[in-house]
Amino acid sequence: MSDNFDVKLDTKSYLPDPSVKEDSWMGDYEKAYDESVKDPEAHWEKVAEELEWFEKWDRVREWEHPYAKWFVNAKMNITCNCLDRHVFNGRKNKVALIWVGDDGEEQVITYRQLYREVMRFANGLKSLGVGRGDRVCIYMPLVPEQIIAMLACARIGAVHSVVFGGFGSNALRSRIKDAQAKIVVTADASLRRGKRLDLKSIVDEAVVGSSSVEKIVVLRRMKPQMELFSEIEVDFYEIMEGVEKECEPEVMDAEDPLFILYTSGTTGPAKGIVHACGGYMVGTYYTTKNMFDLKEGDVMWCTADPGWITGHSYIVYGPLAMGATILISETTPDYPDPGVWWDMIEEFDVTVFYTAPTAIRMFMKLGEEWPNKYNLGSLRVLGSVGEPLNPEAFEWYYRVIGKEKCPILDTWWQTETGMHMLTTAVGEPMKPGFAGRPVPGIVADVVDENGEPVPPGTGGFLVIKEPWPSMMRTVYNNDERYRQYWNSINNYYAAGDLAVKDEDGYIMILGRSDDVLIVAGHNIGSAEVESALVSHEVVAEAAVIGKPDPLKGDSIKAFIILRMGYEPAEKLKLDLLYHVRMNLGPIAMPSEIEFVDSLPKTRSGKIMRRVLKAQELGMDPGDVSTLEE
Ligand code: WT7
Repeated sequence: MSDNFDVKLDTKSYLPDPSVKEDSWMGDYEKAYDESVKDPEAHWEKVAEELEWFEKWDRVREWEHPYAKWFVNAKMNITCNCLDRHVFNGRKNKVALIWVGDDGEEQVITYRQLYREVMRFANGLKSLGVGRGDRVCIYMPLVPEQIIAMLACARIGAVHSVVFGGFGSNALRSRIKDAQAKIVVTADASLRRGKRLDLKSIVDEAVVGSSSVEKIVVLRRMKPQMELFSEIEVDFYEIMEGVEKECEPEVMDAEDPLFILYTSGTTGPAKGIVHACGGYMVGTYYTTKNMFDLKEGDVMWCTADPGWITGHSYIVYGPLAMGATILISETTPDYPDPGVWWDMIEEFDVTVFYTAPTAIRMFMKLGEEWPNKYNLGSLRVLGSVGEPLNPEAFEWYYRVIGKEKCPILDTWWQTETGMHMLTTAVGEPMKPGFAGRPVPGIVADVVDENGEPVPPGTGGFLVIKEPWPSMMRTVYNNDERYRQYWNSINNYYAAGDLAVKDEDGYIMILGRSDDVLIVAGHNIGSAEVESALVSHEVVAEAAVIGKPDPLKGDSIKAFIILRMGYEPAEKLKLDLLYHVRMNLGPIAMPSEIEFVDSLPKTRSGKIMRRVLKAQELGMDPGDVSTLEE
């Protein structure tokens, strides 16, 4: 990035009805923020006091750059806050989960039922020899059992590593291997647009030669039931039979790992982001309550899959810690028709709706007539995540879905941050295009490469200056990579995003400063796609860039140098696409493939994707002094 660049900022803003602020948990954002940063430990301690712990902390925080500990020596189990606390305090028969399957099938699960199922599955896992600290890979469709499996791991202190059910076998294999997972929990199939996608065979491929996997637990949803090989394969519900009803929660230290979740990086394989039990619980609980302003009667629908951090934090842990009712759905937004999601909002009286800009832009394209067929009057708060909510999409969301009465939260955060970091608190003026201001307790800024704050209107790097409870603790098997986050810009946490601030401290995200692509809200590493392409026998070299796409944020374009003896052909393109699909999954498939004779490289041999991108978009490639002849 060049040192400084100026960004023209729009000053339009919307103010929600004053009652929104009056009735909110947070009240006045500025007051809450100022207090929180004056004494961050007191701020987070107050939040932690609202939750249940077996033993309280000796100190709220211990910070030895770049390592933070939160709620030092406290003992807890997150499931006690997500389940027991509600079952024994008046929410026993409250609905915890409403699930709608791809084919319209429904399930409604109360807190008591969820608590029972989690304990039984936890005992089932124990019967397979799973214990504290063991890694369990969960590779499932979006069904209640996926959440039951996550919570059951947490109940017994096992570390879950959820892999999104849309990933291909190589992506799954590398994640199982890196985590050395002992168990894989999967299902026979997922359903999408009425079509059955076989998950189990992907697992079979992924575990070939695995030295860690001892058992595969299979949820069999399809009829007739698929056969299992009794040696290592066991049925999801069978392991719940004949076990104890009760499962005492494992006493966890606040700093013990709760889960690993893989996210794409600039180079090399995906990074296993590790989150700790105590701080993650406090951070997700706080933001669910105060940013979404979740109340007792709310029905929250976050359209993500629990396989992403959005689902971990705002389907599973945050809302359940609040004792909320959550809607989850396997449905695709436009199947069987583009009204399904709005129909579900009307049907279940959804009050808090959280989705991605790519979905909003798709709905804009399909036309207002679809949402207008339904009564969306139950909606109270609307959220967006994954990529910038561009002003046009903001306005549409605000007007067509929120009927100009719902606050819109464009929430900026990351797998690494665990919780919302920037957004606009409900009741505060909203500025289309801006994510907003830092969440109370978070010190964020836009700086130059030396860490000096840049003036409003000038682009720079987004950094977080102080530790926060739900920050990642390390990158699994790669602590060096963890330290890099905190060591590249003046000892601040460098998010890897470019941003700009306005006079009021609102922050607009401009995009990644590295080669991570954001395709339909999913973070995809160019390096991962390139290595999938290069693993095909015809490919000598590959380079991948993101091209701005009106619907998906980025679309992937791949440049390919073929091996000697192969000629460019349309058929080859299809082969390569299929190969990426099988390796990484459909979301990582390039939209465009171009065969080339050479690629721009630095003298040290690194592909200069920036130059390719500039060429592609007809832009100035910037500094090319390191470019090879
Ligand atoms: C990257 C993190 C947090 C859950 C979803 C993605 C981009 C995320 C926004 C937003 C602009 C955003 C950033 C970030 N991003 N939210 N509201 N506005 N960009 O999690 O896969 O870890 O990706 O997504 O570039 O660094 P993730």
